[in-house]
Amino acid sequence: MAIASSSFSLAAILLIIIMYCCPTGLVEAARKGPAAAGGGDDSAMRERYEKWAADHGRTYKDSLEKARRFEVFRTNALFIDSFNAAGGKKSPRLTTNKFADLTNEEFAEYYGRPFSTPVIGGSGFMYGNVRPSDVPANINWRDRGAVTQVKNQKDCASCWAFSAVAAVEGIHQIRSHNLVALSTQQLLDCSTGRNNHGCNRGDMDEAFRYITSNGGIAAESDYPYEDRALGTCRASGKPVAASIRGFQYVPPNNETALLLAVAHQPVSVALDGVGKVSQFFSSGVFGAMQNETCTTDLNHAMTAVGYGTDEHGTKYWLMKNSWGTDWGEGGYMKIARDVASNTGLCGLAMQPSYPVA
Ligand SMILES: *[C@@H]1O[C@H](CO)[C@@H](O)[C@H](O)[C@H]1NC(C)=O
Ligand SMILES: *[C@@H]1O[C@H](CO)[C@@H](O)[C@H](O)[C@H]1NC(C)=O
Repeated sequence: MAIASSSFSLAAILLIIIMYCCPTGLVEAARKGPAAAGGGDDSAMRERYEKWAADHGRTYKDSLEKARRFEVFRTNALFIDSFNAAGGKKSPRLTTNKFADLTNEEFAEYYGRPFSTPVIGGSGFMYGNVRPSDVPANINWRDRGAVTQVKNQKDCASCWAFSAVAAVEGIHQIRSHNLVALSTQQLLDCSTGRNNHGCNRGDMDEAFRYITSNGGIAAESDYPYEDRALGTCRASGKPVAASIRGFQYVPPNNETALLLAVAHQPVSVALDGVGKVSQFFSSGVFGAMQNETCTTDLNHAMTAVGYGTDEHGTKYWLMKNSWGTDWGEGGYMKIARDVASNTGLCGLAMQPSYPVA
């Protein structure tokens, strides 16, 4: 594998050199080289790539970079095609989405950040006395009007702030019947205690602590997202749009406890969200085949906004993400629920938390 990919990039560099200094015949010969090595139809792949680049408005600084990105796209497209071809009806589908010209290492670097290990315990679990048989078989807080539209964190590793805000938006709507988009930017600028570092990682529990001690959080419309942390808190004078009394952790490594919490409100969840299946996720249930790989290294945050069972009988969690509506199912992902491991799939049950209003 390593040999094949390094010979791909060597071939790409040769191709570029040849393209700029040699007659067309050689260019054609060079163009056929990598395709023969990859066993695919290179001109069809190039056409697919050009269409993808046009659809996504991609421009590159020079032709060398473009050649490099084509090689990455090709490798990803081959992975996506074989994943989709291998999967049956139950299997999730992947697609060459807006992340298709990033290697998984680049993608993980771009969006993944480690979470701190929280000191769980003593916080109580207000849903601990609810019986699993007393909660609905499925729930969708989006359909119940407690979820704002999907946002986009863009070039900022601020998933923690989006996850916390979505959980607060949820409980605020459930209590007040008023759905208000809240300010992620306020968390980036103002929730700077402990492990919170704006665009370079943070924790949801710390965000909840800030919102509690600050007496609330402003509306998104009063303190809009700027895709960077300014290092200066500008919350003063802005009206409070929602407030919370505190937060609790869901008892860790227990999907039944997570079910009881999500039955009552959207919950912030940390998970391994930067593997290849997340990167290219399009539809279905991540984990339905029980062989889509991920780890339990918590590096991304989403918000669990529901749960249910799909038409193939696969139990899932409904997750709201913050990568825009042009990722996954309109910005959402379903991920397998009640898996064999008590950590939950991709570690999603390891440290969930939710605001108390
Ligand atoms: C996952 O399992 C299914 C069914 O057993 C199989 O067809 C598919 O090739 C597997 N996929 C991977 C990525 O191993
Ligand atoms: C999981 O959580 C439920 C609900 O709080 C609880 O009844 C159950 O004992 C927990 N299971 C384990 C293994 O701790």
